[in-house]
Amino acid sequence: MSQSVIAANNLVKHFAKRQSLVDRLRNKEVFNVPAIDGVNLELKKGETLGLVGESGCGKSTLGRTLVGLYTASQGSIELSGKEVGEARTLEERRTVQMVFQDPFSSLNPRMTVGEVLREALLFHSLATKENVDEKSKELLTLVGLPHDALKSYPRQFSGGQRQRIGIARALALQPKILIADEVVSALDVSVQASVVNLLMDLKRDLGLTMLFISHNIAVVRQVSDRIAVMYLGRIVEVGPTEQVFNNPSHPYTKLLLSSVPKMASGSQISSAPAGELQSIKSALVGCRFRSRCPVAVDACASIDPSLTLVEGTHQAACLLVK
Ligand SMILES: Nc1ncnc2c1ncn2[C@@H]1O[C@H](COP(=O)(O)OP(=O)(O)O)[C@@H](O)[C@H]1O
Ligand code: SF4
Ligand SMILES: [Mg+2]
Repeated sequence: MSQSVIAANNLVKHFAKRQSLVDRLRNKEVFNVPAIDGVNLELKKGETLGLVGESGCGKSTLGRTLVGLYTASQGSIELSGKEVGEARTLEERRTVQMVFQDPFSSLNPRMTVGEVLREALLFHSLATKENVDEKSKELLTLVGLPHDALKSYPRQFSGGQRQRIGIARALALQPKILIADEVVSALDVSVQASVVNLLMDLKRDLGLTMLFISHNIAVVRQVSDRIAVMYLGRIVEVGPTEQVFNNPSHPYTKLLLSSVPKMASGSQISSAPAGELQSIKSALVGCRFRSRCPVAVDACASIDPSLTLVEGTHQAACLLVK
């Protein structure tokens, strides 16, 4: 069996929730709901794991914690079997790179593309002053942009081109793992396919491992070897993509897949219940999905189901999966 290149062990991330003046006057407890709450996940070398779930379920928080942008509240992260500390080494930071939905947020608008790439390459000693321009041009070729893009600023590019620059910036650091967070969600449908295809080609050619985060199930199905379904900070189902699609075993996955036609056209299924649930402590006792679950039984109110084997490596966290 190939070794995992990145693994999350019981990963938890809380965001401190401030008590409002009204809450303080009423002496009301503010419950700090974890954005991710006990996530176990591992990615094998060369695989693409798709991470799906409605808005607010914790996908980006998981990605940002894995990449080191957020410090985990509990649990640990391993890179190639070695646990990373709170302060990552330069090598560990380089190994995991992220491509964001909005490349603007990760690109300094006052720096030209050439300056962005140059800074990254030199800081990590991946180029010398003599060959940094050549290496920058190679990166642009890799992502299908002309060399004169080096002199331009991010605002001068279209959304699809900016996403290519974001990918080039991530690849400049020669990562082993790429975390792609909603990378095509903000793009016109006409350019989505070209960016997805570019990412998949690069992943194959460079031997990368990828966590592909998206609420768009149709795209995730197209690119992923395995798929993980997230609900309220937990992985509720995980397995080989076609097994999960052909035999969805968690009621939430069934709900998500039944909304695929809607999602393919760009819309998301309602996330309101998740947001509401986040503020209700009692919702975290028993199965978190029970208020929306069409097949809930009495035991679901008290037992918090853990991932159970469905078949092969396919697992689901539901009391009805035996
Ligand atoms: N920086 C933050 N500070 C406080 N709360 C946050 C922050 N980022 C995310 N959250 C909260 O964590 C939960 C998960 O959010 P997120 O990871 O962005 O979900 P997703 O990417 O699945 O839409 C949400 O309730 C969100 O409001
Ligand atoms: S454990 Fe119960 S409430 Fe949760 S998904 Fe399964 S049947 Fe539904
Ligand atoms: Mg997100």
